[in-house]
Amino acid sequence: MLHGRRILLCVTGGVAAYKSAYLARRLVESGASVRVAMSESALEFIGAQTFAAITGNHPVTSLFADESVSPHTEMARWADLVIVAPATAATIGRMAEGISSDLISATILAATAPILVAPAMHTEMWENRSTQRNIDQLRSDGHHLVGPNEGSLAGGDVGVGRVAEPEEILEAASSILEGDAGGRAVLVTAGGTREPIDPVRYVGNRSSGKMGHAIADEAVIRGYSVTLVTTSSLPVHPAIKVVSVETAQEMFTVVSDVKADVAVMAAAVADFRPAKSHETKLARSDGLKSIQLEATPDVLASVVARSERPYVVGFAAETGGVERAIEKAERKRVDLLVYNDVSEPGSGFNTDTNRVVFIGQDGTTESLPLLSKAEVAEKIWDRIASELNERE
Ligand code: PMT
Repeated sequence: MLHGRRILLCVTGGVAAYKSAYLARRLVESGASVRVAMSESALEFIGAQTFAAITGNHPVTSLFADESVSPHTEMARWADLVIVAPATAATIGRMAEGISSDLISATILAATAPILVAPAMHTEMWENRSTQRNIDQLRSDGHHLVGPNEGSLAGGDVGVGRVAEPEEILEAASSILEGDAGGRAVLVTAGGTREPIDPVRYVGNRSSGKMGHAIADEAVIRGYSVTLVTTSSLPVHPAIKVVSVETAQEMFTVVSDVKADVAVMAAAVADFRPAKSHETKLARSDGLKSIQLEATPDVLASVVARSERPYVVGFAAETGGVERAIEKAERKRVDLLVYNDVSEPGSGFNTDTNRVVFIGQDGTTESLPLLSKAEVAEKIWDRIASELNERE
């Protein structure tokens, strides 16, 4: 679950900071990309170079000395998960109050990713009513806590306040990132297929892959394990398994090998291809007057026909009213059909926004306003998650 995930490790000033070096190593071993932010007092306990050597990235240690003009927002946006380990009483207090007075608290305040806090302090400080009040506040703000444990503390003391072990933090991180996805595998198709006429020309369409890639990105953020079969080279989250294809036949062949609990078919697959693809470039003097077309395989239909049928979301690219799409939803036997009018400004092909209508199995519709494709992807996953929950 940590493979390809982007983890920001915030190290604050306690003797347990040395354990965070091992935590960083375990995160890297698990396949995560790890970046580290260190508070001034963390640097009193462990050197930045240790984390640089382990993670391959130089830790950020100041709000102002980094190359980035805004290191806190840049790191916060990058992260899929923020781990604060060790988290001192002072850091926890600032988090509870929403104070952004230093690198760590500003980064945490800027983060929209989930935050996992591993407190570490002396027993008296942990049990203090102020700390407990702050911990209650973190919980009610939706932050996740791991530990503290009972055991040896700094200065030979023994009691509650020992930071959770790296393996416990790793396990907590995995289960947060898995979220409600429950280990489900997702297949997404994206982009427009290109059906060759000769080595130079093809029959194609205007799909950029933006919609399908946004759906794949959102699925990973929600903890699904994602395979994206795409004709597009747009960047995607590193945790996504990407298989590049060009033609409808290639997409069909690749998809048939991908096991999935949920399939979202956002690709614009050509319905027809040239019956003959010429091996060498056709010259004008060859005098080609027409191109004979033949039907391509229906990728969506092959997924719907599986004996272990996933939850299937189809798309309908239309240039008129929703009626044709309602009929298509029934004919294609999908669990959900996402209709978009590709002739509407701001919708459909190669736009950053889309206006879609959800069509359920029973033909009921839900119209959404014009949204960014990332927002449309969120709505699609909200709908899938709620229907899967109902089924369970
Ligand atoms: O990629 P973007 O530029 O962001 O544009 C997004 C989009 C407009 C391509 C997307 O939102 C969209 O509508 N995708 C589906 C396009 C399409 O092919 O629609 P359709 O109505 O022709 O096909 C219906 C469904 O059958 C689709 O899920 C399609 O993936 C699938 N299909 C179609 C033909 C075929 N041979 N195999 C298929 O699997």
